[in-house]
Amino acid sequence: MYKIHNHCRACGYAKPVAQGIKSSSTEKLIPVFDLGIQPLANDFCKDGEPHAGYVPLKVLYCPRCSLAQLSVVVDPVTLYRHYAYVTSPSKMMRQHFAALIHDISSESEGKSVLEIGSNDGRLLHMMKDCGFSVLGVDPAENLCELARRNDVPTQIGFFGEDLARILPSTDIVIARHVFCHVDDWQDFVHGLEAVAHKDTLICIEVPYAGDTIKGCEFDTIYHEHLSYLTIKSVRALLEPTRLRLHRIIRYPIHGGAILLMIRRKDSAPELVPMSTLEKEENIIAQDWIQFSDTAHDQISRLRATVQAFRAQGRTVAGLGASAKSTVWISACGFSRKDISFIADTTPQKQYTFSPGTDIPVTDEGAILRELPDYVLMFAWNYREEILEKFKLARSKGVKFIVPVPKIEIV
Ligand code: TYD
Repeated sequence: MYKIHNHCRACGYAKPVAQGIKSSSTEKLIPVFDLGIQPLANDFCKDGEPHAGYVPLKVLYCPRCSLAQLSVVVDPVTLYRHYAYVTSPSKMMRQHFAALIHDISSESEGKSVLEIGSNDGRLLHMMKDCGFSVLGVDPAENLCELARRNDVPTQIGFFGEDLARILPSTDIVIARHVFCHVDDWQDFVHGLEAVAHKDTLICIEVPYAGDTIKGCEFDTIYHEHLSYLTIKSVRALLEPTRLRLHRIIRYPIHGGAILLMIRRKDSAPELVPMSTLEKEENIIAQDWIQFSDTAHDQISRLRATVQAFRAQGRTVAGLGASAKSTVWISACGFSRKDISFIADTTPQKQYTFSPGTDIPVTDEGAILRELPDYVLMFAWNYREEILEKFKLARSKGVKFIVPVPKIEIV
């Protein structure tokens, strides 16, 4: 179900010199964070459905280009063929899409858009309404079906050079939170080169490792997220290719993301000044080791907090059956005795169990029906929106435990 991956996928550090021959040098990626054995974060199964199983979750750091990545790669078919993650219909996400479309339009007059990892087609639907001609690509059959029903043409498949060869060349390519899920970056970049004409604008949105470390967002580390990108690592990856970094934009979405705007090297020859973010970036192994200490501390604290409430006879539920919830629950070793249920708006997740546990996932209305004393906010990236949405429950005494960046009771 998974394979070991112990060389840098951006710059090739520690890569064996040839197939079957071990690296001639002493190069080795540095282990910086280890959560032991974990279930797959989106493996929400109904009663009786087979589980995918458990896989080590460990982060390695590249001392040459500063990329951090998992030590294993789970078979993508296991992860994505049938995928429970659906792009959030939240207000924050809609606002983010509007900002994204605005920023893309300020850089490109192009009208044809290809979205890689288009999920249920939510962003493309919005772009279509703005006059773009759109095409999505996604490996999840269930989500492609959903997108097509919403009039978003979508091709089933994993994007790479082979698939790109049969796609039309396009003015704008978007890949939101997909790149860090991809194992073979060289193949992906070759695919980008294949669909890009001279003026194509490629927009890759990824969580930024600087934000992950700063906010101690360890719960965003799970098997789907193979890489934790820095700008230095992106430069290292693109250096031998026909593509170059054009501009970087920061967004608050998902706890801090960057949009990497990329163009062909032979396009407009303007020299773009380095962003402040890049100038100030200096992420070293020690930063990750410190992150690891803080994360383990946070895990112990949340476990103790929940156990103390339970010992006092208080009830605790969860909100948001996010992938992040699986990481927290597994790291803290919670079961239904600790968290009675997790409420979530996603129909695909409701009436399943939190991966590796007996904690049921319910509809969102369960919070108001059950009025638990405490609700663990596992979708903390939508904090303000959730606090506003649950005003009534809060007025009835329900308190929220927000676990990131620091455990806080609201
Ligand atoms: P998200 O933070 O997008 O993702 P990840 O799985 O990458 O950690 O997931 C948020 C989850 O929380 C998603 O399953 C939808 C759910 N959710 C609610 O149930 N209610 C809400 O008000 C919001 C904002 C999210």
